[in-house]
Amino acid sequence: MSFLEDKYKEIGTSPPEIHFVLGSGFSAAVDKAKDSSIWEERLTLPFKEVPGLKIPTVESHSGLYRYFSHKPTGRVICFQCGRLHGYEGHSPKEVVQTVILPLQAGTKRFVLTNLAGGLKESLTVGSVVALTDHVNFTGQNPLVGPNPSDERGQPLGPRFPDMSDLYEEAMRRQVVRELLAEGLRVEEGIYIGVLGPNFETAAEVQLFARWGLSAVGMSTVWEALALRHAGVQLSAFSLISNPACGIEAGEKLDHESILEAVSFYSEKIIRSFFNYCDRQFF
Ligand code: HPA
Repeated sequence: MSFLEDKYKEIGTSPPEIHFVLGSGFSAAVDKAKDSSIWEERLTLPFKEVPGLKIPTVESHSGLYRYFSHKPTGRVICFQCGRLHGYEGHSPKEVVQTVILPLQAGTKRFVLTNLAGGLKESLTVGSVVALTDHVNFTGQNPLVGPNPSDERGQPLGPRFPDMSDLYEEAMRRQVVRELLAEGLRVEEGIYIGVLGPNFETAAEVQLFARWGLSAVGMSTVWEALALRHAGVQLSAFSLISNPACGIEAGEKLDHESILEAVSFYSEKIIRSFFNYCDRQFF
């Protein structure tokens, strides 16, 4: 039995049914968005206590699994607060381990989030892009090397996994309904994942915009590839924190003001996630 399965047993729950990966700027909103009459926190597990996980180096990414049970039904979800990034020096395999361990411990549905730069003028700060697809522009891939397998040596998926339904339509639509109900602006679109840590040049942004892409960010694509390889249900959402470089004249990008700009919206997104689960569980 894995470390996480042991933990689930300890608190007397089944594996979380849905695992949410919360990018920078989202984690602080969990407590504000949570309705305590419906959700009870069962366990907080820092990455540093989980064998096989690295610890994030970026301060706003705390590196915690938070488990909540749905009081009416007893069903459990996990909010992963913080993630690892390639630009911190972590390898793609180290980055995806944060979702692969929960997957191997029994979770079969995943929702990824990130902050991203908007590549279209319609994508103002606070808009949400519901990902229909992605471009992996990092030059790296977590599936490189021997085909990833479980502890018994069984491959988690095919050597050459198909990516035609990377982000599942049905789950996306259900979550989008909740996002709209919170008053958020939502568009479907394609995300491009870059390695970072620099924000893109204006020339790169022009290129990405001409390719018809919607959002650019420094995460998500590796986790999506590893999860899709393993055949689980997946959806992903970008919160636009800034127009990407050069889309609006005169704005310089910095990490702190980006985080500040989004706290109002990230709370609404997390509330939509809680509401999505609540609706799924009845
Ligand atoms: N580019 C890349 N990553 C980002 C951005 C951006 O403009 N905004 C938030 N994360």
